Amino acid sequence: MTPKKICGIGAGYVGGPTCSVIALKCPEIQVTVVDKSKERIAQWNSNKLPIYEPGLDEVVKKCRGKNLFFSTDIEKSIKEADIIFISVNTPTKNFGNGKGRAADLKYVEGAARMIAELATENKIVVEKSTVPVRSAESIINILRANHKPGVTYQVLSNPEFLAEGTAIDDLLHPDRVLIGGEDSAEGRAAIEQLCKVYENWIPRKNILTMNTWSSELSKLAANAFLAQRISSINSLSAVCEATGADVSEVALAVGLDSRIGSKFLQASVGFGGSCFQKDILNLVYICECLNLPEVADYWQQVINMNEYQKSRFSAQVIESLFNTVTDKQIALLGFAFKKNTGDTRESPAIHVAKTLLDEGAKLHIYDPKVEEEQIMVDLSHSCVIAEPEMIKNRISIHKHAYDATKNTHAIVLCTEWDEFVELDYRRIYANMMKPAYIFDGRKFLDHEELRKIGFIVRTIGKKIMKTGIS
Ligand code: UDX
Ligand code: ADP
Repeated sequence: MTPKKICGIGAGYVGGPTCSVIALKCPEIQVTVVDKSKERIAQWNSNKLPIYEPGLDEVVKKCRGKNLFFSTDIEKSIKEADIIFISVNTPTKNFGNGKGRAADLKYVEGAARMIAELATENKIVVEKSTVPVRSAESIINILRANHKPGVTYQVLSNPEFLAEGTAIDDLLHPDRVLIGGEDSAEGRAAIEQLCKVYENWIPRKNILTMNTWSSELSKLAANAFLAQRISSINSLSAVCEATGADVSEVALAVGLDSRIGSKFLQASVGFGGSCFQKDILNLVYICECLNLPEVADYWQQVINMNEYQKSRFSAQVIESLFNTVTDKQIALLGFAFKKNTGDTRESPAIHVAKTLLDEGAKLHIYDPKVEEEQIMVDLSHSCVIAEPEMIKNRISIHKHAYDATKNTHAIVLCTEWDEFVELDYRRIYANMMKPAYIFDGRKFLDHEELRKIGFIVRTIGKKIMKTGIS
């Protein structure tokens, strides 16, 4: 049997784009994305989608109202669906057992309980959110303990590997799709049903089926490996700064070894985003619970190195500005955790901004996609400056990079937006206080050109030039 209706629970960064692409590629399937947040659903039904993702608007416009629906009628959608995707948030727990490390599964559990309460026919429940190993077991236990007479469930693990900013392309052309399920006739039949959905646009050879726990662990492992590469190159950036080596040259040389490969070797102010830190903390916690402290320590070090990198970069800014930024005007260009997204979760810019605020700086922030309100929320939350009014006085959010940099002592670049390469730096230099500094936390501007203009340039993974200001 081919599935006719899919329900996606959770209209966030994962659920929204994933379900939209399924609708695009499977015109025969009716896809309904539900969320308990009325506001989010209203945004998905409007002309301004709640998330910025290149190509997403076009996909949604093409399918919405035809075979793609966004709704708050969770009950109807669950009842009708053959397959239900759980794509709710799984933040790190901020209280109780496993605080600061374990994944908080309350939303996944809530979704499972809701399905058990509402479903009146057999369902395939797909775990899309990234979850700890053996979470599928908890979901199935909840479903089977609360099922209605005659209703059976199969739970599959189908982790999502999309990266923000390239989500649509990642969904259209994934390296692989993983489907983990129970090793039983019913389990294999459920896996087959989900394969049928993906086979609408993904070659069968790229769809890997496996046991549920392998699938769950593979997702954590992939993120941990990617983050580990960034921490590795960032650790070497500190060695470069101390020796005169250039981390870009080292990354190029190392990455040309086909066994290593060139991706994810860009040294930076540190990695951010909703997944890397959360998933590694989660892995560390699992290892501790399994009494594998050496393994836990190994992965914890990837996080520690990332914290070190963010602090090192912030300290470099302060040290270079004569060891004090009190009352200095500093332009912060880029607030998102990477380019082509408006997402600020775990963005290194937050760490840098807070450090500079703590030291008394006045910040002028510009990001092409992050809303002013979001920046204020991120910087008010657990900032040492207790008074919200005080924060407001020390932060101005600008609509253009040129306004943000006017009359400032320094530019601190935290996100690698393409438009920052295109800026007229002669114009910017002319309007800044002198000496004018640029701290390139992404190592992506033309530093020689900037030095010719007159800027003092500092970046990651390259020894500071002592020869004059050029
Ligand atoms: C990541 C994974 O790539 C994706 O497969 C998973 O599904 C979710 O987590 P995402 O967090 O959206 O995706 O972005 P990603 O492109 O992986 O970047 C994460 C962070 O690492 C960003 O802050 C980025 O700027 C940084 N990064 C990336 C580097 O600092 N250097 C690099 O070489 C690559
Ligand atoms: P992710 O990045 O994992 O997609 P988001 O926070 O962007 O996470 O989105 C998760 C969405 O899931 C939120 O919009 C939230 O309102 C929704 N959600 C969480 N629990 C439920 C639930 N039980 N029913 C419906 N929606 C839910």
